[in-house]
Amino acid sequence: MRQMIAGNWKMNGTLAGIAAYAAALGQGVAGVDLLICPPYPLIGPLRAACAPGIAVGAQDCAVEQSGAHTGDVAAGLLAEIGASHIILGHSERRADHNERSALVRDKSRTAIAAGLTPIICVGETLAERDAGEAETVVRAQLAGSLPDGFTGLVAYEPVWAIGTGKTATETDVQAMHATIRAALKKQLGEPGETMLILYGGSVKPTNAATLLATPEVGGALVGGASLTATDFMAIAEAA
Ligand code: G3H
Repeated sequence: MRQMIAGNWKMNGTLAGIAAYAAALGQGVAGVDLLICPPYPLIGPLRAACAPGIAVGAQDCAVEQSGAHTGDVAAGLLAEIGASHIILGHSERRADHNERSALVRDKSRTAIAAGLTPIICVGETLAERDAGEAETVVRAQLAGSLPDGFTGLVAYEPVWAIGTGKTATETDVQAMHATIRAALKKQLGEPGETMLILYGGSVKPTNAATLLATPEVGGALVGGASLTATDFMAIAEAA
């Protein structure tokens, strides 16, 4: 199965940097799906600058489809300006904006109705892992965040590995991805058997090959290393 390497620029990137970044990605990497999720204002320009085979996505959307919601952005508008995917339930949104799994589930329904493919993020904090609760937390996040009949992707991002330079060990990643696979099969039936499960958390050119070769890892959700096109391409080439 083709792997996906997705870049989450978070609150980084400039309009001035788009052309050079897109040029460095070129046509992407054969056999690998590439996706870049920049801040909202850069979605349209990045879509216009990148080769058609490179997907562009968003990092969040409103739960409502339209209306009086100052500062929020509708999923339908994101699709109209060229987004094909959307990250939902990232731990930074769960922590910084108090997003609960029920809201992530509702946003996912809205996004799917707008024609977007959600990437739903799950992952435990260090305190939860140290308490032996990592699998319970992730199972609960999946149960709460995925709507019935969910079609999309899941990303496992241990919170303690995001932006810290600490990467989960191969053993930890393999165990958690197996847990997620079992939960997806139970929750979704047949579609859960093949749904891509991305790993995220300090993925870099130096560790990408090992992580991407781990069983049940269907690709990577890359934060910091996606800001530099050469690093992002090196990760994609490791897939
Ligand atoms: O969405 C991406 C993740 O939060 C990983 O970020 O690669 O900077 O650790 P990072």
